[in-house]
Amino acid sequence: MKIKNICCIGAGYVGGPTMAVIAQKCPEINVTVVDINEERIKAWNDEDVENIPIYEPGLSNVVKEARDRNLFFSTDVDAAIDKADMIFISVNTPTKTYGIGKGMAADLKYIELCARQIARVSKTDKIVVEKSTLPVRTAEALKNILDNTGNGVNYQILSNPEFLAEGTAVDDLMNPDRVLIGGDIDTTEGKKAVDALVDVYAHWVPREKLLTTNVWSSELSKLTANAFLAQRVSSINAMSELCEKTGADVNEVSKAVGMDSRIGSKFLKSSVGFGGSCFQKDILNLVYISKSFGLHEVADYWEQVILMNDHQKRRFAAKIVQTLFNTVSGKKIALLGWAFKKDTNDTRESAAIYVADYLLNEQAEIVVYDPKVKTEQIYADLDYLNTRSSEENKAKVKVVNTAYESAKGAHAIAVLTEWDEFKDLDWEKIYKEMLKPAFLFDGRRLLERSTKEKIGFEFYAIGS
Ligand code: UDX
Ligand code: ADP
Repeated sequence: MKIKNICCIGAGYVGGPTMAVIAQKCPEINVTVVDINEERIKAWNDEDVENIPIYEPGLSNVVKEARDRNLFFSTDVDAAIDKADMIFISVNTPTKTYGIGKGMAADLKYIELCARQIARVSKTDKIVVEKSTLPVRTAEALKNILDNTGNGVNYQILSNPEFLAEGTAVDDLMNPDRVLIGGDIDTTEGKKAVDALVDVYAHWVPREKLLTTNVWSSELSKLTANAFLAQRVSSINAMSELCEKTGADVNEVSKAVGMDSRIGSKFLKSSVGFGGSCFQKDILNLVYISKSFGLHEVADYWEQVILMNDHQKRRFAAKIVQTLFNTVSGKKIALLGWAFKKDTNDTRESAAIYVADYLLNEQAEIVVYDPKVKTEQIYADLDYLNTRSSEENKAKVKVVNTAYESAKGAHAIAVLTEWDEFKDLDWEKIYKEMLKPAFLFDGRRLLERSTKEKIGFEFYAIGS
């Protein structure tokens, strides 16, 4: 079975880059990415390819090559579903904010809406691929809706979890460690569907990296991978606090530990806390599923990874207050970076949001500079917390266009995202702009202590 037309529902951080790479690598397949958000689709179609809505190194070049050749962005969801042999679902699955599972379970309403729309529109057999991060057994729910509300056409449901990391999405898609495809491999039809998706990826991914499993293993592997990665970050962050008390340096510990080939060096960088749309959500899902099966010890074990992360964010903010003579009331604090990591304009669950909120509760005045995040996004993130009114957030938080501007009259600077450009700032100039003593808090272990102390900064770095 050869796939000719792909439709992807959801033109976000997952759907956009993934489909752009599939289209670039498979010129004979038509790929249409649809979204109900008109603004977003308009931005994907912007004549100036630098204006696409998602910032990812290398992405604009891929879009430039494939767009209007075999890559299309549209708001006509029905038409794209109708035409497709294979439909990827890449819509958002936020944590539920109401009802049963509030604050833990994934809200599947967008997924369900997609399934109902597919069922309503489809007149020919479809392969439906779950791409969004989902709790285990979502495929079953999808199949149930499709089979019971559809027009009698046949559906095969595949799970194809996304392992791309933002900031390196294009490279991760081009050279994945593995691609996981879960399907009903015990039936002929299921096997055919799995093979069809394998053939798509085989255009550029070596066969031995294409892993096929049953659907449940595929869904659970995604949650497990993210839980393990997040656990490493929480583990090293736990050690960072101990390092600060004992005179050890977390970077040295991390290096020593990571050189053990059984442990490995990646994801051992201490920080102000992990963020992003996946880690917290996936672990909460894992906790919720474990609890729902009565596995309380399993649930508690994983929940601790989140509790440690919350502690790390709070601890960093508290350190700022404590160092500034136990009060930041009326003091100007500059935050360098708002994105949850460098090289992305995504801010979901970014530690910066929580650090800012903590400092605002302590009546600080906040000034933010981030090279890629838009001003409206910063206010939207703070408003979403509902800690104070939108007007108050606007009054207390200022967003500026350069790091130098943020430093003017500031009592302290806190580095919250590891953007490369922060390393190369003229720190002498920044020091001159600030009130004295000038405090510098490095939440990413990005800056060199000795040079900053030589300039005159009072320097604090996480884990040393
Ligand atoms: C993650 C997974 O890596 C990816 O496979 C999955 O598909 C989606 O979730 P992402 O959230 O984009 O990707 O970024 P990632 O690089 O994993 O970083 C997550 C957070 O952990 C960031 O806030 C990052 O700054 C932080 N982090 C990461 C650390 O604090 N220390 C580290 O050593 C690594
Ligand atoms: P992710 O990081 O998982 O890609 P995003 O929030 O960046 O998440 O993207 C998800 C996209 O899915 C959003 O642009 C949203 O508008 C879109 N979306 C949600 N529900 C639907 C739907 N029923 N039909 C089309 N698009 C949808």
